[in-house]
Formats: sequence, structure tokens, C-alpha cells
Amino acid sequence: GSADFDLYRPSEEHDMLRDAIRSLSEAKIAPHAAAVDEEARFPREALDALVANDLHAVHVPEEYGGAGADALATVIVIEEVARVCASSSLIPAVNKLGSLPVILSGSEELKKRYLGPLAKGDAMFSYCLSEPDAGSDAAGMKTRAVREGDSYVLNGVKRWITNAGESEFYTVMAVTDPSKRSKGISAFVVEKSDPGVSFGAPEKKLGIKGSPTREVYLDNVRVPADRMIGEEGTGFATAMKTLDHTRITIAAQALGIAQGALDYAKGYVRERKQFGKPIADFQGIQFMLADMAMKISAARALTYQAAAASERGDADLTYQGAAAKCFASDVAMEVTTDAVQLLGGYGYTRDYPVERMMRDAKITQLYEGTNQIQRVVMARNLP
Ligand code: CAA
Repeated sequence: GSADFDLYRPSEEHDMLRDAIRSLSEAKIAPHAAAVDEEARFPREALDALVANDLHAVHVPEEYGGAGADALATVIVIEEVARVCASSSLIPAVNKLGSLPVILSGSEELKKRYLGPLAKGDAMFSYCLSEPDAGSDAAGMKTRAVREGDSYVLNGVKRWITNAGESEFYTVMAVTDPSKRSKGISAFVVEKSDPGVSFGAPEKKLGIKGSPTREVYLDNVRVPADRMIGEEGTGFATAMKTLDHTRITIAAQALGIAQGALDYAKGYVRERKQFGKPIADFQGIQFMLADMAMKISAARALTYQAAAASERGDADLTYQGAAAKCFASDVAMEVTTDAVQLLGGYGYTRDYPVERMMRDAKITQLYEGTNQIQRVVMARNLP
């Protein structure tokens, strides 16, 4: 019946949400995107605009004060913000990444305590898995959490932490039993204000310069035992389950960056005249635009399908999340590179946004697992 075909198009509610987030992004976020990049400063205007419209953490369930948006709605928000400013899109994306361990595996008490402030916009959430010597091999982490009475004492260094310093709350994975590798890792909520928490200098990056990336230092940080997320020894599985869902948000970010680059290039080639006519009249240019649009369509289909799998909790989610992230991020790199090509020398300058989009796209092939790791994950979970 016709209901089956609705699977292939977002609902009216999703379309309305897209209209709302697109207008907000164009009015309040796009005007600051170049300055945020140039000055490598946190996009405060974007955070304020997203919070004012309840779009900073739409995934938080209603029972904890959130909007209770589904995975596709969350994807649409991130996609539309990324279309104008990739750095700003990490606000809703990392709020989901940081808090999803609590949503998936946390006690009722932890959910009440930490999701409320996130939903209200009083706090952001970051996710601390990687370390200086544990990137792709996340289970090789060294950060320790040692039980002492009713507390755990955490020591170690977490690296590449998105929005570190800006977030109030941090999900931290740490080793509670060194003899068990991944089964000896536990997850905790750490607060910025906990004594012993401090941050490294912001990394100087190629792109997403508005989103601070810093080390998080844990120096004898004592947290009550009830801040453990789930049971002792389940932290690695929780971290991996989280990434199954949130790799789709990185796919969304990649998709938005690519769409932003195509939209800009499309307008440019209609205006730019050479040999007495708009360069859009040349077939060589038209074919590039056609390829860019085709790749974006394919990436969007994969991303929305993965979002539906995330929402339903499908058995093949691990594969779907990895496939969407891997494919969409490669598309973002290709499309943004082509957008720079279409603008020629102008595209290579900071007077136009496409070189920023190309620099921002690169990270989507790296974080939440490199695209080589995505292939490892896909190969282990073939459909
Ligand atoms: N769901 C549930 N449990 C899972 C799981 C999943 N998808 N994947 C693994 N597990 C659990 C299982 O319990 C498994 O044990 P069993 O084999 O008994 O089932 C256990 O974890 C160990 O799994 P593996 O043996 O597969 O572990 P591994 O050491 O081989 O690692 C890996 C697998 C896929 C390479 C993983 O280490 C990985 O994903 N690496 C990349 C890390 C990553 O993505 N980092 C991104 C950091 S976040 C970031 O970038 C954030 C940012 O700021 C934006």
C-alpha cells in the first residue's frame, strides 16, 4: 500500500522540523560561521540560538524534560546546522554522543540528574573514550578507576575531546580491572567541577575550528560509586553501542557539509561568466554538479535508513551506522573538493566558504572511528 512508500520520505513533522532548523541556521548561525572559523572561537551565537529554540539536544527523552525527538529528527537538525557551520553542528551531535551512554545504560537516578540540565540547555555533555595512545584501539586505554569505599578514584588523560571545557558533564570510560581488557572497562559521569578535572590547550586544527578539542586530565578525581553508568565492566560495550547510534550523527554532519558546498557551488557557476557565458552552461561543469548531487542523494538515503535502524534498534544497526558514516564522510570530502574546483582560484580563498567546508569535511573521515575502522566494523557485521 501507499504507507510502504512513506518509508522513503520523511514525515510531515520531519519536513516541518527541517524548515524550522534551516531558517534558524541561515538567520542565526551562518552569519558567524566564517568568523568562528577564522578566530577559532566557540560558536556562542549558535549555542544560544539552538538553546532558545530547544534544538541543542533534541534526542533527550520527554520524561527527562527533553523534546524526545527520534533519530531521524536528530539527524535533520545536525544536517541543517552543518550545512552552514560544521563547528556549530557539533553542539547537538556531541550532546547526543556524551549523554547516550546514560540514556542507554544509566540508572534512573543518573538520567534524572544529568539529562534535565542538558535538556534545559544549562549544560552540555562530552564523551571521553580516546587517549594519547588509545585511538582506534579504544580498549587499550590506560585511564584507571579504582574503587575506594563508596567512591571511585580516576586517574588518566583523555584526548581529542570535543567541546572539552565548554561541557559541564563528561562520560568517561576507565579501566576498573586491567586483567580483562574490554570487559574490565567501566563508564562514569564526571563533572567539570569535580576536583582534579582540568583541560589541555585547545588543539590547533585543520577544520571544525569553532569546536574546541582539548585533553581532559583526571588527577585523583573522586566520584561517588553511583556515578558509574551501568554495571562494572560494561563500559566498553556501552561506549560501542553508543557509537553505533552516533556514527549516524557524523554521517548527518558530513551530509550537511556536502549539501552546503553543492548549494554554494550551484549558485556560483550560474553567476560566473567565462568565454561569454555562465560556466554553468558548460557540460564539464554540469557533469560535476550532477555527480555531486548523485553522491549526496546516495549518502542521504544511507544515513536516513541508518537513522530508522537506530530508532527501531534493528539487529544490523552496527553495520548500518558504520556504513552511513563511512560513505557520507567520503562523499563530503569528494563534494567539497569539487566545490573548491568549481570556484577555481576564488574557491581557494577565505573570501568564499567552500575551502572551510573542505577543511571541515576532512574530520568526518577521522572521528567516531576512522573510515578504516568503519570497514573493520562493517566486515565483522556483514548484513
Ligand atoms: N555493541 C555492543 N557491544 C559491543 C559492540 C557493539 N557494537 N562492539 C563491541 N562490543 C563489546 C562486546 O561485548 C565485545 O565482546 P564480545 O566479543 O565478547 O562480544 C567487546 O566489546 C569487545 O569487542 P571487540 O573484540 O570487537 O573489541 P576490539 O578491541 O577488537 O575493538 C573496534 C573493536 C571496533 C576496533 C573498536 O575498538 C572501535 O570502535 N575503535 C574505534 C574507536 C572509536 O570509534 N573512537 C572514536 C572516539 S569518539 C570521537 O571521536 C568523539 C568526538 O569527540 C567527536
